[in-house]
Amino acid sequence: MKFFVDTADVAAIAELNALGMVDGVTTNPSLILKSGRDILEVTKEICGIVSGPVSAEVVSLKADEMIAEGLKLAKIAPNITVKVPLTWDGLKACKVLSDAGHMVNVTLCFSVNQALLAAKAGATFISPFVGRLDDINLDGLELIADIRTIYDNYDFKTQILAASIRTVNHVAECARIGADVMTAPPEVIRKLASHPLTDAGLAQFMKDWEKTGQKIL
Ligand code: G3P
Repeated sequence: MKFFVDTADVAAIAELNALGMVDGVTTNPSLILKSGRDILEVTKEICGIVSGPVSAEVVSLKADEMIAEGLKLAKIAPNITVKVPLTWDGLKACKVLSDAGHMVNVTLCFSVNQALLAAKAGATFISPFVGRLDDINLDGLELIADIRTIYDNYDFKTQILAASIRTVNHVAECARIGADVMTAPPEVIRKLASHPLTDAGLAQFMKDWEKTGQKIL
């Protein structure tokens, strides 16, 4: 499973990228707001750090305007993925932009039927939001599994990009189900390294090592 980092925080992206943890980046208008940066400037900076797909989201609601915005965003760098919402206009923009050779990420997906439409419109990535479904007592991971089954039934090439990933369990389950990609905030990716038995085992090793009185360096 590929790891995308869901942030426009350049320092966090650079740190994780240096460890080989970043196969791509996803941003959205809320994350641009959080960064306090200009969308074109910060997206260009991110594309200079990460060689994989970098999603930049359009903000118009009409297809023709989404297409114009998408074409402008795509000029930033060859690894830009234009992100469009899963609306009828978004699907129209997806079709035009993907036919023109651009990578497209269709976002705000909450049902298998929406995922089917995005695949038929030529989406490179579909972004089902796991955490936001859990927020309303639905099962976000079940949606990932259902999309996996349906895409495999018909050999759709659209990649499942599990988004709104909030917990380490979400990450493990998405990998088990077979999501192609998951995108998570930097803090969730860092938490994947933690285990209480690792901490306890290390503390014991340190205690015992001190008793040996030895040094390696
Ligand atoms: O990639 C979509 C993601 O940013 C949404 O996450 O936690 O705001 O639901 P969240």
